[in-house]
Amino acid sequence: MAFTIAIDGPAAAGKGTISRAVAAHFGFAHLDTGLLYRAVGRKMLDGVDPIRAAQELLPADLQVQGLRTAAVGQAASRVAAIPEVRAALLDFQRAFARRDGGAVLDGRDIGTVICPEAEAKLFVTASAEVRARRRFEELVAGGAETDFETVLAETRERDHRDATRADAPLKPAQDAQMIDTSELDVEAAVAAAISAVEARSLEH
Ligand code: DC
Repeated sequence: MAFTIAIDGPAAAGKGTISRAVAAHFGFAHLDTGLLYRAVGRKMLDGVDPIRAAQELLPADLQVQGLRTAAVGQAASRVAAIPEVRAALLDFQRAFARRDGGAVLDGRDIGTVICPEAEAKLFVTASAEVRARRRFEELVAGGAETDFETVLAETRERDHRDATRADAPLKPAQDAQMIDTSELDVEAAVAAAISAVEARSLEH
């Protein structure tokens, strides 16, 4: 049986952590759709045409090290604005969403475009300052040399690009449950997400 949980929201709001925990809790498969755009962005930085890269993307491309760097994140956000790139990645995501046994997909447009019929939709957000602080701490822990102001500016730039692009902009689905993690620790955010999904599944 298919059961799709769509988890959307801006960068560093806690989507990834929440999605992994929700998938583990329900025993569902998990797809981080940002990795698809990151893999295409990475190829563009290597000189490959992004539309072609998206059309020829292979599962192994998602295993590549270095997809989670700030530079690849910016490249991902740029290729994500190209309609042909989004179109090339659509079927894979839709098939994953409707696989037997349940699926959690996290991204920007899962509840609005990829799977509008998802049984549960969450929109996970947090203030730009809180998200930039989290990303900054992650980058520093990973050995990167950067400062908070730069990360905050990049966070705002990426939010703006993701929210204003014409094709599948970042926005909550009308029927999405909002979870603001600005004031929540990981445990509380995960608990809020699980109870939101449980409330929806009772309706199905
Ligand atoms: O979630 P992330 O930081 O890994 O995403 C990288 C970029 O990919 C993000 O800036 C926007 C884009 N993206 C998208 O447009 N649609 C998705 N479903 C997932 C990511």
